[in-house]
Amino acid sequence: MMKIKTKYRSLAHWCRMNKLKWSSLVILWMILVLIFYFMSELEERPRATPNSRLNCQEVSTLHRKELFALLATTTRLLDQLRINHFLCFKSLWSAVLESGPFPWEINAHLCTLNNPGNDYDEPTLLRTFRKANLNLDYSSAEARYVISNMSLPGGSPTVQVTVFEEDPRVGANIYRRVGWKRRLLPPNCDSHSSLQCFPASLVALPLPLRTYGPLRLPAPRDNMELLKFHYPDIWHKPPTC
Ligand SMILES: *[C@@H]1O[C@H](CO)[C@@H](O)[C@H](O)[C@H]1NC(C)=O
Repeated sequence: MMKIKTKYRSLAHWCRMNKLKWSSLVILWMILVLIFYFMSELEERPRATPNSRLNCQEVSTLHRKELFALLATTTRLLDQLRINHFLCFKSLWSAVLESGPFPWEINAHLCTLNNPGNDYDEPTLLRTFRKANLNLDYSSAEARYVISNMSLPGGSPTVQVTVFEEDPRVGANIYRRVGWKRRLLPPNCDSHSSLQCFPASLVALPLPLRTYGPLRLPAPRDNMELLKFHYPDIWHKPPTC
């Protein structure tokens, strides 16, 4: 009898200990998810109020020229690699409203689609851009490439390329943002706006072309429609710097 009691006690103790560990792991996990959730909520959304005057300064003619040259080469190389791309985020916004970058906008933004089974050949990608004297930095957290001209100093214009993919877990004919930061989130488009899901019909080929300064670049269908998915709360307001 005594023996059973001791056994039971030690078992109860073991359970308590493990339960404690288990719950602290769950709490730790929740905290991590929350941190990443807020981090991803914070970025990418333009501020409703203007930044300091410094950031509102008009971009110089030189920087403009550099941006258009960089963008022209980038889209040419992406075409050459048969990577579908299109204007998105603020660059789509400015293309629709002003047919070119906003006066204070120094960088441009493109998006690409990474379909399962058709992953980019990373070495070829790097080699192709290097040959054209362009830097290609990749953030795997954000699934974003930042392209810059190797010959120009820091602070020069960049082209940012964000990758979206189809994810059977979020549903058919839906694209979501790639990146391990977002992989931590449950694949639910409605409750996680940072997944920035959008319907595949918006980027059905062939894509229409839009004027962006001196260039004509592929753009999603239906004018501003994609912006409603990028910026659900503020897409209809005039953008500020
Ligand atoms: C990079 O910068 C150099 C120097 O200004 C320029 O000659 C070249 O055309 C630029 N390349 C691209 C792809 O923008």
